[in-house]
Amino acid sequence: MTHVLSAVAWPYANGPRHIGHVAGFGVPSDVFSRYMRMAGHDVLMVSGTDEHGTPILVQAEKEGVSPQALADRYNRVIAEDLQALGLSYDLFTRTSTRNHHQVVQALFRAVHANGYIVAQTQMGAVSPRTGRTLPDRYIEGTCPICGYDSARGDQCDNCGNQLDPQDLIGPRSRIDGEVPEFVETEHLFLDLPALAEALGEWLHGVEATGAWRPNVIRFSLNLLDDVRPRAITRDLDWGIRVPLEGWEDNPNKRIYVWFDAVVGYLSASVEWARRLGDPERWREWWNDPEALSYYFMGKDNITFHSQIWPAELLAHDGRGSRGGEQGPFGDLQLPTEVVSSEFLTMEGRQFSSSRGVVIYVRDVLERYQPDALRYFICAAGPETADADFTWAEFVRRTNTELVAGWGNLVNRTASLIAKNVGAIPEAGAFEPVDTALLDTVEAAFGTVGELLRTHRQKAALAEAMRTVGEVNAYISETAPFKLTTSDPERMRTILHVAAQCVSDCNTLLAPFLPHSAQQVHETFGRTGVFAPMPELREVDNLDGGAPYPVLTGDYTSMRGTWHRVPVEPGTPVAKPTPVFTKLDDSVVETELERLRAGS
Ligand code: MF3
Ligand code: ZN
Repeated sequence: MTHVLSAVAWPYANGPRHIGHVAGFGVPSDVFSRYMRMAGHDVLMVSGTDEHGTPILVQAEKEGVSPQALADRYNRVIAEDLQALGLSYDLFTRTSTRNHHQVVQALFRAVHANGYIVAQTQMGAVSPRTGRTLPDRYIEGTCPICGYDSARGDQCDNCGNQLDPQDLIGPRSRIDGEVPEFVETEHLFLDLPALAEALGEWLHGVEATGAWRPNVIRFSLNLLDDVRPRAITRDLDWGIRVPLEGWEDNPNKRIYVWFDAVVGYLSASVEWARRLGDPERWREWWNDPEALSYYFMGKDNITFHSQIWPAELLAHDGRGSRGGEQGPFGDLQLPTEVVSSEFLTMEGRQFSSSRGVVIYVRDVLERYQPDALRYFICAAGPETADADFTWAEFVRRTNTELVAGWGNLVNRTASLIAKNVGAIPEAGAFEPVDTALLDTVEAAFGTVGELLRTHRQKAALAEAMRTVGEVNAYISETAPFKLTTSDPERMRTILHVAAQCVSDCNTLLAPFLPHSAQQVHETFGRTGVFAPMPELREVDNLDGGAPYPVLTGDYTSMRGTWHRVPVEPGTPVAKPTPVFTKLDDSVVETELERLRAGS
C-alpha cells in the first residue's frame, strides 16, 4: 500500500466547463484514482476551482457582478458538473477559502525567508485612456517566439511559452484595441535561476526513468534553456495579499494567480485533513519520499507544474543554490509525474465559448449517460496526441462498443440466467474452453492494471474491451441457449463461467464506467457500494466566512477490489434492465444543428 496523491488541475470559476476541459484533467484523473484505490493504495484526490486572477475579473466585468459573486456562481456549477460525471474527489474545494489564503501566504513567506523572492522594478502596462493598470491577460499581440498573432501577455497558447506583456510584438488591449503604455512598477519575482540547477537535476532524473510522456518531459526540459526570474505579484485588487511588510496593506498588489493556484494541491490536502479532524494527516502524502504524486492537466498547464510549482516546493524546502531551511510544511516532495494530455477539438475546430464552438458538460449529461461521455473520452480522448470529438463518433462508439459490446454481454448473460435458472448457477465439471476463458479474463487484471498504473488508459480500455469480446465469443460458441433441455447441466456450467467473467469484466471496467459498474454489480445480485460516487456537501468555512459547497466522498468500499471475486451460486438474478441506452442516428443531426445555432 502506497500513499498516492492525485492532484487535479483547478478549473477557473469563470464559466461552465466544456468537454475539452474534462477530457484533459477530469476523467483521466478519476480513472487513475479509482484504479489505484482498487489496487489497494491510499489515494488522496484533490482539486477545486481557481478563483483569482484576470480570467475571473474579465468575466465578472462582462456579467456585471463582483468577482466573488462570479466565483460563487461558477464554483457551484462546476462542482455539480464534476459530481454528475462521477469524479471521485476526496476534496474539491476552492481558492477563495481562508484556509487556502493562509497556506499560500505561509508558503510564500517561507520561500521569501529562504531568499528565493526578489524585488525588481518592471515595466507594467497601463491604459493611456483610464490610467489603470492593464493585467497581462488583457493584452494581446504577436508571440515573439513562434509568431502566433493572438498570444496573450502572460502566455502564448500556440507554443505554450510564458511571456511578459512587453515581449509581445504589436501589443494591444483585448478590451478596446488600445495600445498600452509601459510604466515602471515594483514587483516580487521568484528567483528561478537560483532554483534551475535543482530543477534540472530533478527533471534529468525523471527523464532517465522514461516514465513521463515524451512530449511532457521534452517540453519541461526545454524550459530549462531559458530560465529567468518570474514575476509573482500583479497590480490588481483581486487575489491573495502579499504577506510581507510594506506590501500587505497595499490593496493593489496581489499574488499572481498561478503562484497561488498550484499551492491549492497542498492547501486542499490540509483542508481535507482538518475536516477529517486529523489536521496533520496530509503529511503522509507530502512529506513521505515513498509517496507518489501525479498531476493531471491539459498541455497549456505544463509550465506551471513542471517548473513553477516544483520551484516553489524546492524554495520552501531550502533546496536551491541559495540554500535555506525547510518551511512550515516540512520536506515537501516534488511531483512523481506531470501527466499532461493534449488538446481536444470539436468537429475539427478549437473549442471556443465566445464563438459558440462548444458543448458544455452539463448539456451532454442532460441528454446522455455520464458513462457514455466517459467512455468516449477514455477511448478516443487526447491522451498523447490531439483528438477530435465528433457527434458521429460519439454515437458510433456508444452504439457499437458500449451498447452492442459490453451492454449486450451483461444483458444476454443476466437474461439467460434469469430465464433459465433465476440465480447464479452451480458449475459442474469445467471443459478446456471454460478454463481457458477463466484464465484469459483473470490475466486481464494484470495487463489492464499495469496499463492504468502507467497512464495508458486508451490501451487499458482497449484491453478490457477485448476481454469483453472474448466472453461474448465464448457465449456465442458454447451456445448455452441451445442446451436448455438437451443438457441443462452443461448450460448451468457455461452460465456460471459467463457470470464469473462478466463480474470480472465489470471490475476491469469500473474505473472507466463507475455508474454502470454499480448497476451491473446489482444486476448479478451483489449488494453494497461497489463504485462509490462523490457527494456535494455544504460545509462551514473552517476559519470563518460563508459556507460553501465541496465535493467529497467515502471511497473505502472500493479499496483493494482489483481482483476476481468468485460469484456465489444461489444468488438471485432477475431479468435485467439494459445498462446503456442506444442512441438514434438522428442524434448526430440534432446536435450539429444545435452547434450551428450556437455559433
Ligand atoms: N485554472 C487554470 C486553467 O484553467 C489551471 C490551474 S491548475 C492549478 O488553466 F492547479 F495550477 F491551479
Ligand atoms: Zn508562441
